[in-house]
Amino acid sequence: MNQYVIAIDQGTTSSRAIVFDHAGTVASTGQMEHAQIFPHPGWVEHDALEIWRNVREVIAVALAGGNLTRHDIAAVGITNQRETTVVWDRHTGEPVYNAIVWQDTRTQDIVRSLAADGGTERYRQRTGLPLAPYFSGTKVKWILDNVAGARERAEAGDLLFGNTDSWVTWNLTGGTDGGVHITDVTNASRTMFMDLATLAWDEEILADFGVPASMLPAIKSSSEVYGKVASSQLLREVPVAGILGDQQAATFGQAAFGAGEAKNTYGTGCFLIFNTGEEIVRSKNGLLTTVGYKLGDADPVYALEGSIAVAGSLIQWLRDNIGMISTAAEVETLAAGVVDNGGVYIVPAFSGLFAPYWRAEARGAIVGLTRFANKHHIARAALEATAFQVREVLDAVNADAAVPLTELKVDGGMVANDALMQFQADLLGVPVIRPTVTETTALGAAYAAGLAVGFWKDLGELEANWSEDKRWEPAMAPAERERQMRLWKKAVTRTFDWVD
Ligand code: G3P
Repeated sequence: MNQYVIAIDQGTTSSRAIVFDHAGTVASTGQMEHAQIFPHPGWVEHDALEIWRNVREVIAVALAGGNLTRHDIAAVGITNQRETTVVWDRHTGEPVYNAIVWQDTRTQDIVRSLAADGGTERYRQRTGLPLAPYFSGTKVKWILDNVAGARERAEAGDLLFGNTDSWVTWNLTGGTDGGVHITDVTNASRTMFMDLATLAWDEEILADFGVPASMLPAIKSSSEVYGKVASSQLLREVPVAGILGDQQAATFGQAAFGAGEAKNTYGTGCFLIFNTGEEIVRSKNGLLTTVGYKLGDADPVYALEGSIAVAGSLIQWLRDNIGMISTAAEVETLAAGVVDNGGVYIVPAFSGLFAPYWRAEARGAIVGLTRFANKHHIARAALEATAFQVREVLDAVNADAAVPLTELKVDGGMVANDALMQFQADLLGVPVIRPTVTETTALGAAYAAGLAVGFWKDLGELEANWSEDKRWEPAMAPAERERQMRLWKKAVTRTFDWVD
């Protein structure tokens, strides 16, 4: 009875359900990819109904795979791609528009007009965020401004907004039949609507954006019983008891609970989170301030975050858009065919540039091409792009924080790539450490849910579950490291001011 916790990870490329036991070991999983919809350059959408169907399916697959029923599951935790914006009708459950994905840059003009009064730092003091298309706020505004009838329906109280955590939770707990409309503090901190200090929606910002408060989910902690799964679902009656945005979940899953601890997750994008404890640190170096987690009634824990929009999705792009490889894994083999990048640099500013630049008008570039360059160099440059971006983010963390980071815990799909992790350690000049369980995102959500129902009793128990699998020590000569960084930074400047 109740020997497991299930986590639902609603990510950018796929939805997954992962069942964990008390030791934090994966017992079974289900995974399904969903369509990436690119209607125009810079636009990225998902079908929210497809996502919900997939979530139901992956739960079924994970339960069946482990030979489990709802009676074996103590709680459900939810983690999600953050900022991706769903607006739906509370009476029918129908989204009024596709989900607008965090990578989408269509709201540049909205950002520009909001920034006319006070600049892009206008809301930084209250929200911890620069004005940028990345966050949910301008995406909700775009839907209300552009979908016929949406604003009237929102003002009449008929529409609900949420990131995909809210969308999945509302459906899982009953949808039109009594579903709870909530989010947690970590997701709320990515909307641009939440005051970091009070953890409440900011009425003035909502008024500036023209977004009715009635659309917004109630803000909850990251670990408490929010409700139970509806009777129509396989997991009926199981408490839904934890929600964390995926990057915060990975931090929690890495047991980086204390101030000064950090992790870096290599997924679709790449996100370094640095725990600042109960202190709200406002970045002077292009990082975001965000909520790390809040357990029930305890005080919130804050963090600095370096967000990189494109990491694994560059490899996906080489596969799906360019056709240079047929599986993502092939990029590693190709890259291994040459000793260096041959002078080629790829700056994947597909969604503009995020940290530390925040330039929505940048667009991607491949530079340093000569007749010598071949697909091996391109593959290598694609992998290296991630490591260079991480080094720039780490420099910003070290500039903002009192004490420099002396090691970096890593997780996510790309940490299976040995050569990339070695190059990463070389560029950073500090050891890079991979834990035994690399499913830290789902694990973090499971932990938050399990803590709320007493499946795990405290953070100490979770810390004891963490163990090191492998570490990469820096081996590159400092002069070579600095030469590489100089060239990378020069390549980055080539992407600036591209969009008129
Ligand atoms: O902020 C976006 C982030 O939450 C998406 O993460 O893992 O889907 O790249 P991922």
